[in-house]
Amino acid sequence: MSGLKKTDAWIALQKHFEEVKDLHMRDLFAADPDRFEKFSTRCSGMMLDYSKNRMTDQTMSLLGNLARTCGVEEARDHMFAGDHINASEDRAVFHVALRNRSNRPMHVDGQDVMPDVRSVLDQMRNFSEDVREGRWLGATGKSIRTIVNIGIGGSDLGVIMALQSLRFYQRDDLSPRFISNVDSSHLVATLKGLDPETTLFIVSSKSFTTQETMLNAKSARSWLVKQLGAQAIEKHFVAVSTNEAEVKNFGINPDYMFPFWDWVGGRYSVWSAIGLAIALIVGMDRFEEMLEGAHAMDEHFRTSPIEHNMPIVMALLGVWYTNFFGWSTHAVLPYDQYLSRFPQYLQQVDMESNGKRVGLDGQVLDYTTGPMVFGHAGTNAQHSFFQLFHQGTWDVSMDFIGVANNHHPLRQHQTILLSHFLAQTEALMRGKSEDEVRAELKAQGLVQDEIDQLAPHKTFPGNKPTNSLVLPLVTPFTVGQLMALYEHKTFVQGVIWNINSFDQWGVELGKDLAKQIIPQLRGEEHVTNHDSSTKGLLKYVRRLKKEFI
Ligand code: F6P
Repeated sequence: MSGLKKTDAWIALQKHFEEVKDLHMRDLFAADPDRFEKFSTRCSGMMLDYSKNRMTDQTMSLLGNLARTCGVEEARDHMFAGDHINASEDRAVFHVALRNRSNRPMHVDGQDVMPDVRSVLDQMRNFSEDVREGRWLGATGKSIRTIVNIGIGGSDLGVIMALQSLRFYQRDDLSPRFISNVDSSHLVATLKGLDPETTLFIVSSKSFTTQETMLNAKSARSWLVKQLGAQAIEKHFVAVSTNEAEVKNFGINPDYMFPFWDWVGGRYSVWSAIGLAIALIVGMDRFEEMLEGAHAMDEHFRTSPIEHNMPIVMALLGVWYTNFFGWSTHAVLPYDQYLSRFPQYLQQVDMESNGKRVGLDGQVLDYTTGPMVFGHAGTNAQHSFFQLFHQGTWDVSMDFIGVANNHHPLRQHQTILLSHFLAQTEALMRGKSEDEVRAELKAQGLVQDEIDQLAPHKTFPGNKPTNSLVLPLVTPFTVGQLMALYEHKTFVQGVIWNINSFDQWGVELGKDLAKQIIPQLRGEEHVTNHDSSTKGLLKYVRRLKKEFI
């Protein structure tokens, strides 16, 4: 048995789980009028209400003990100290330095990284202001009107999500586009209708070797060169990377390369120059407000006691459902259209970080780790998968994200949106008992036979746990706060599960096999070394698509 399962804290939780697993939240609320006050916490205007969870005071206290036993606070301090906590890659995990808005130095390997961080922020400010104010001109002397970010994974998802969230702050004459998928349709559809003279490409890649990004960048370069000539590259291509040699090889002037460092993980890199498109589209001041929001959450995480610490509380509740209830799915449901890309961004943060099967000591784990994360904006999600939440046979833990105000205060819309945000978590918690259903049907005048037939279908068990996060408004600050909240939640869970949340070896095997398959698809090599399924599929695809390969 693993060390974690042998700890007193874990054993106590297991015993406690048997005692409380069947309690209904309806009864817990009825028994304790202070439940909301007790189980809610705040950070700079953002509130987390976690009272609608299947737990008691004792559960939270035992989960707090688990965090202490697993050394969550010490691990957090190691991260903020710049220690090499990414053991399998022997690196620090220091994205918190990118948004350090205090005067505190932040050291990695004995060196304060803040001067470099500030210098790149200055470089981003100068460049983004030049572009936005029309001082940076394309090769034919025209101002830039479209920014195309070419990147994938962490070099794409955070930027798209942030720009979607901050759309309100976007100028009408400057718009973003994104190319990530190696599918040519993505490139062609994105470039369609674009004027090369007013288009600026940002090639965003930490490694500058990612196959999809490099091919997309080359195809975009050909598109530009075909129309404006090779001398135009300098004014229409910039790079964000840690790999200066490859940036030069590609033909981008290193003066227009925005660097970052190996202590910034790909999925945590939106705070670095990877966020350049954000600075260009909504302005550097807005980008820095996003950093401020993240810093506020960092400070909350760094200094708040476990019981009031938003990321730690959310992480512990996640562990409660994953490891004790045995649930495998977590849904994130923003009730704001601007936040509609948030679940997708979060999938990489959470699942690439905590989708791990061995512990830090290399031993295969005997407990489950990161759940599957999915979600979609409300109210749309209510009309697709909410049915399963209310009456399905699977259990899912959920985060609802509500936003009090809207940038577009049209009569009624916000009230209705918020009414659903509030109603869903209440409905999921309370449910509707068969007795209530029967009484309701009787009052509607149905006869006994009809009531017997309909009652089971209209009964809701309830007791479905939800967290509710409330933000005042979707702003750069609150978006930054929200992102940092989930990053730290993911980190805390990784500490409890004793895994490395900062590597991603799992993506390698498929990449290696794909490389072997390329010459076989082209017919340059025989189709060998595969199982019969892959061989059969490969040959079938080759026959169908012969003319294109
Ligand atoms: O999918 C693996 C991965 O390494 C991610 O972690 C990363 O965000 C993405 O690929 C892109 O990497 P790069 O920024 O080096 O192109």
